[in-house]
Amino acid sequence: MTNKYIYFIANWKMFGGLNSLNSLHKVAKFFKNFEKNKYIKIIYCPPSTLIRPMSKKLKNTRIEVGAQNCHENQTSGAFTGSINAKMLKNVGAKYVIIGHSENREAGENNKLINLKIRSALKSGLKVIFCVGETLKEKRKKITKQVLNKQIKSGLDKIKNKNNILIAYEPVWSIGSGLIPKSNELFNIINFIKKKFKNYNVLYGGSVNSKNINELKFIDNIDGFLIGGSSQDPKKFIDIIKKTYN
Ligand code: PGA
Repeated sequence: MTNKYIYFIANWKMFGGLNSLNSLHKVAKFFKNFEKNKYIKIIYCPPSTLIRPMSKKLKNTRIEVGAQNCHENQTSGAFTGSINAKMLKNVGAKYVIIGHSENREAGENNKLINLKIRSALKSGLKVIFCVGETLKEKRKKITKQVLNKQIKSGLDKIKNKNNILIAYEPVWSIGSGLIPKSNELFNIINFIKKKFKNYNVLYGGSVNSKNINELKFIDNIDGFLIGGSSQDPKKFIDIIKKTYN
């Protein structure tokens, strides 16, 4: 692990209601007392409905809150059902996930993702920019070409690198229980870091409290984007603890 901070980002996806906030104090308490806490950033990305109440709950902690997507327009407009980055910031979000494969599958392309990233940065949010190859692309051995295209297009016309985290999430590993082989993962992270210098690069896809024992040894990873295992505070805390054991 190379950088100052290691990121643990919780992606709650379309899960959770107000009662899911009741156990957050456990994570806050653990984090406060954890000896390594000054080297760690914890960011919760709940559904948009929970951003405000969650930010309030976590007000006096170092845990930050983010959103899971945003509209590409920075200004308000007639876009029924959409929320833009400014509105997310207004209710307490500091980060936003953009380019998640579940949204790419639903039709978001590289160009739209680039517009969203630019809009989010302009609105003052930090971006968790997701990229990753499908199983078909992996089998065709075109992972690096796919990543190169996704990242290059996503970062088009963007100068400020400081507010972007790249999250490498192979589509085939999300929610499947599968993770890449350590040497393959190291190589891919290395490829991204060499090609796109000075970015923090995270790994996401089926991270859990067992495979973290393997993942933590891949020393070019700057943190983890965690879906399924992030909703249960016990599992989430376990992942953080084991990273440093
Ligand atoms: P997972 O999801 O940990 O449940 O695989 C990760 C993600 O989709 O960000």
